[in-house]
Amino acid sequence: MNQESLFYFKSIDMKLTIAIQKSGRLNKSSLELMSFCGFNLIEGNGRLKTRAENFPVEVLFLRDDDIPGYIRDGVADCGIVGENVLAEKGIENLQVEEKLGFGTCRLSLAIPRETNYAGLTYFQGKRIATSYPEILSSFLKSNNIKAEIHGIGGSVEIAPGIGLSDAICDLVSTGSTLLSNGLKEVETILKSQAVLVANQNLNGEKRDILDRLIFRVRANRQGKKNKYILLNAPNGKIAAITKIIPGIKAPTILPLATEGWSSLHSVVNADDFWDITMKLKKEGAEGILVIPIENMIV
Ligand code: PRP
Ligand code: ZN
Repeated sequence: MNQESLFYFKSIDMKLTIAIQKSGRLNKSSLELMSFCGFNLIEGNGRLKTRAENFPVEVLFLRDDDIPGYIRDGVADCGIVGENVLAEKGIENLQVEEKLGFGTCRLSLAIPRETNYAGLTYFQGKRIATSYPEILSSFLKSNNIKAEIHGIGGSVEIAPGIGLSDAICDLVSTGSTLLSNGLKEVETILKSQAVLVANQNLNGEKRDILDRLIFRVRANRQGKKNKYILLNAPNGKIAAITKIIPGIKAPTILPLATEGWSSLHSVVNADDFWDITMKLKKEGAEGILVIPIENMIV
């Protein structure tokens, strides 16, 4: 077999296996990220694994709590998981490659709504139900609180209501789970978001595929943080408007067919564009268009 065909065989064989949550808070955003990266995932009915038809990745659908272990054992090469899960399961042999900005939540202590709360000493001698016994026990230890930890797999929020515990330590995102179970949040232990995590001993080819994936993820996140803006302005206003929308290097300025007018194109922060467009309007800008950016490489 000559060099060229050997390379061909290697490249069709070698895939990066990425683990994502099977169902739950991170599932939809993880799949969206794959799609923004340009991967056409083959639709299957089993939903255990699939692959992209246009990129060397294979996707495994797993329980989020199991993802760090599978990556450590080499069953998956990388995965998308909450920092909360990594903090609970440990990250030896793993490395966080990229924060993904979705799945933001916090791990908090909550108690029945009607209970008075005067501070952490409330938890002295209490029973606390949680799916995060490791994080909770080190938090309590560092605050010199002795409490009884009940490690349970799920539906932690119902534990006080059925008399299993006095308090819970669980993830809070919108807060509606606590609200509908008559609980109130009293302490935040940890803040979390989804991250891309990988086995730190990937071979060269897999590392290369992962780097290509990360390049796309970054371009995509950068694109989402910004918007493309176009407007028309009288030439006398160009200097003032350039100060408002300096862009990456400088705005593009193109003459309009109407004498004395120009079109300015630039990039603005997605969080600021409403305020920026109001300022532009005051400076005499007209026909302002704000357009989403799919990918941005700076
Ligand atoms: C968490 C947590 C609560 C819910 C809180 O579960 O256990 O049930 O989210 O969200 P809310 O504040 O918006 O109501 P998650 O979906 O992460 O499932 P998991 O713990 O099984 O991974
Ligand atoms: Zn989970």
